[in-house]
Amino acid sequence: MKFALLFLRLLPPEASHFVALNFLNLLYKLNLISFFFPYDNFGESVEFRGLNFKNKLGIAAGLDKNGDFIDSLGALGFGFIEVGTITPLAQPGNSKPRIFRFPSQEAIVNRLGFNNKGVDYLVKKLKARSFQGVLGVNIGANKASEGQKRIDDYIECFLKVIPYADYVAVNISSPNTPNLRALHLEENFLPLFEAIYSARKENQYSKPVFIKLSPDENEEIISGILTAIKKFDFDGIIASNTTIDKENLIYSGHRNFSGGLSGKPLLAKSNDLLKITNFHDPQMFKIGVGGVNNKESFQEKFDLGASLVQIYTSFIYQGPEIIKKLLK
Ligand SMILES: Cc1cc2nc3c(=O)[nH]c(=O)nc-3n(C[C@H](O)[C@H](O)[C@H](O)COP(=O)(O)O)c2cc1C
Repeated sequence: MKFALLFLRLLPPEASHFVALNFLNLLYKLNLISFFFPYDNFGESVEFRGLNFKNKLGIAAGLDKNGDFIDSLGALGFGFIEVGTITPLAQPGNSKPRIFRFPSQEAIVNRLGFNNKGVDYLVKKLKARSFQGVLGVNIGANKASEGQKRIDDYIECFLKVIPYADYVAVNISSPNTPNLRALHLEENFLPLFEAIYSARKENQYSKPVFIKLSPDENEEIISGILTAIKKFDFDGIIASNTTIDKENLIYSGHRNFSGGLSGKPLLAKSNDLLKITNFHDPQMFKIGVGGVNNKESFQEKFDLGASLVQIYTSFIYQGPEIIKKLLK
C-alpha cells in the first residue's frame, strides 16, 4: 500500500488522482476492494431527517465531481459520499497545472475551477449507482454565468439532482470561480436562497439542503448567513471549503500559488468557522471538513459541534487506510 502511494506521488497530482481512482474502480469491478481494504462496520451511525449515516465519516466534494466513482468509494466504508461540484453545462476548468501538493504539511493548493462533465452526465451516474449509503450532491454555477443566470444555474442543478440525491449542498464558497464567494454577501445570497426555497416548496422537496461556507469570512457575515439559513428552512452548514489564506504554509515561496488551500494548514481556520457557528446557533446541524488527518483532528470537529465529518486531502496523502484510522 505504502509502495503504491509512493508511486502515485511520482506522478503529477491530477494524473495521480486519475490513476488512483480508476484503479479503485477496477478493484471494485473485480470484487477485490474488501480484499485490499477490508473494513468491519466500524463507527457510530447518525440519523438526521430520515437519513441513516452508517458512520460519521464522508468523502468531501471535489474528489468525485461527476459521480464516476460512487460505488467504489462507498465500498471503502465511507458513511456518506458527496459528489460534485456540478454545474449545468460541462466545463473544462482552469488551465493546468492547477493542483499543487505540499507533502511536508499534508496540504494541497488547487485552482481547478469546477471542471466537470455537466449535470446531465451526473444524473445518469446517480441513477445507475448501487451504493446504498447516503449520497449528497454539491451544486454550483458555470463560470460564465452572472447575476440572475448564476441563480438559474443553481436552480437547474437543484431540480435535476434532487430526485436522485439524499441531500444537496449549495456551494457558495469555491475560491476558484470568479465572484462566487460574493454570494456570502446579503444582497447576493438572499435572492439565491429565496430561489432555492421556492423551488423546494413548489416541488414539495423536503430532502436536506446544506450551505457550504468559506473559512475566510468574518463573524458578522457568517452570522448573517446563519440567520438566513434558518429563515429559509435550510438544514445546516458544511464548514468549510478551502482557504485563500496561505500564511500557514511554512515555505513562503508556496504562498504565491493562487487557489484554495486544504489539508493540515486549514484545520484551525475551518475549526474557527465551526466555533462561530456553534456560538451563534448550537442547534444547527454541522458537517465539519478541513484539515482532518488523524484521530485528534477528527475528534476536534465533534467537540466543536459537528455531527458528521468529511475528508479530502488526507485521503489523497494517506489513501483508504485513513478511513480505518479515523473510525476505529
Ligand atoms: C483538488 C480539490 C478539489 C476540490 N473541489 C471541490 C469542489 O468541487 N466543490 C467543493 O465544494 N469543494 C471542493 N474541494 C474542497 C473540499 O471539499 C474540502 O472542503 C476541503 O478540501 C477541505 O477539506 P480537507 O482539508 O480534508 O481537504 C476541493 C478540494 C480539493 C483539494
